[in-house]
Amino acid sequence: MHAINNESLLQKYNKAGPRYTSYPALPHWNGVPDKSDWFEELKHSVATGRAIELYLHIPFCESLCTYCGCHKKITKNHELEENYITALLGEWDLYIKELDELPKIAAIHLGGGTPNFLSAKNIKRLINGITSKAKLLKNHSLSIEIDPRTIKVEQLKMLRELKFDRISLGIQDFDPDVQKAINRVQDFKMISELVLTCRNFGFKAINFDLIYGLPLQNKKSIQKTIKKVLELAPERIALYSYAHVPWKALSQKSLEKYPLPLGREKQELFELSEELLEKAGYLKLGLDHFSKENDPLNQAFKNGQLHRNFMGYTVQESPTLIGLGASSISSSGNGFVQNEKDIEKYQENIQEGAFPWINGHTSTLLDVKTNQVIQGIMCNLSSETYDFILNLEKDLQEKVRKNLLELIEDGLINMSGSKISVTERGRPFLRNICMAIDPRLIEKGITDHCFSKSI
Ligand SMILES: C[S@@+](CC[C@H](N)C(=O)[O-])C[C@H]1O[C@@H](n2cnc3c(N)ncnc32)[C@H](O)[C@@H]1O
Ligand code: SF4
Repeated sequence: MHAINNESLLQKYNKAGPRYTSYPALPHWNGVPDKSDWFEELKHSVATGRAIELYLHIPFCESLCTYCGCHKKITKNHELEENYITALLGEWDLYIKELDELPKIAAIHLGGGTPNFLSAKNIKRLINGITSKAKLLKNHSLSIEIDPRTIKVEQLKMLRELKFDRISLGIQDFDPDVQKAINRVQDFKMISELVLTCRNFGFKAINFDLIYGLPLQNKKSIQKTIKKVLELAPERIALYSYAHVPWKALSQKSLEKYPLPLGREKQELFELSEELLEKAGYLKLGLDHFSKENDPLNQAFKNGQLHRNFMGYTVQESPTLIGLGASSISSSGNGFVQNEKDIEKYQENIQEGAFPWINGHTSTLLDVKTNQVIQGIMCNLSSETYDFILNLEKDLQEKVRKNLLELIEDGLINMSGSKISVTERGRPFLRNICMAIDPRLIEKGITDHCFSKSI
């Protein structure tokens, strides 16, 4: 348990900042990389036998959850599936044409939006289309995010046939009033039957997505939600802080008419949930994830080998992640590209045989060093900073040192030589600790309406 007992600490550090699922954070990217540089890096990865991970973004959802900050299109028109899958497979073909050999794949993740918007037949067409042009590693993993309200048995059956082993259910909260306020009503009985069905189908691991900080949530209601979660005993739980970014996700404005738990009140919802989960034997990973004692993520955490990418915490470091689909982000270890967010434009680009890149970044040596420090803090709660500090210019070195001193004075970190270790007190402030050493953030400052608040 990592309760924040000090009100002034909470006030001081509850400010807007990146979530550091990538470094640098998106507002600090320096533009789409040169295509030949991007592929040189990728070809090198493939040629040296390194396996890649694939993320496939399915942007469609049948109805709008008003809190949602994901890239999605609300529609009930399932005729859109066909062309979208053609585009995803077309984008994969573009990659395959550029590479000299078929890549090895360690993992495929279907995210969204709602991947189970696709029919069983179309899920099969998509996965077989991708894997027919790749070499799947023997111990590869296939995972999917699903909306419990719309998943059908024939889809689960197909997922298992295709060897999907991990399934993530969007739960958010079990309280009926909270569910009404966020326009996402799904009762406990339906979820508990679904969990049983997933287990009977043989899914190896079930994850629940929960959110704290939603309208009408209070200590009593979240306690009940966590109790219900524990009854269903998912292997992993992501307990996200509600990111209120109404300038980006317009539907979130509608939540402002409710009392929104903020600051101390919001933090207490997390602390209570954390306490209940830890008492039940879950181990907290990084910022907001929990897993059962025997989960491979726990072993990786204990060995200081946990990694994190756009999709969450992972046991294997896979610097190469190819994201296919509208709005998807790919990372090569040396930089990033992001795809066109507009679905029609995305599809037009692919039809024309063009990579649909609208944004990106080429990492500098300092970015790579900063990323290593940030990964260490976010995943394993400690980081060696010697190399990183050495690569900073003098004035930045001074600013980072000053910031580190302040974190030490506030009791959030300890330093032994040049190694940072996050203290118990510092656990809720991992984002702030990273912000204190982030050279791009220190130089550019935070512009309004870029990031959600850290608590
Ligand atoms: C793509 S959705 C999951 C799959 C499916 N669409 C569903 O909702 O069941 C990914 C997750 O992002 C989280 N999420 C979405 N908007 C959020 C926000 N504003 N703040 C925090 N988490 C959010 C939710 O927990 C959600 O389950
Ligand atoms: S939470 Fe999931 S189902 Fe709801 S709008 Fe967002 S992506 Fe769609």
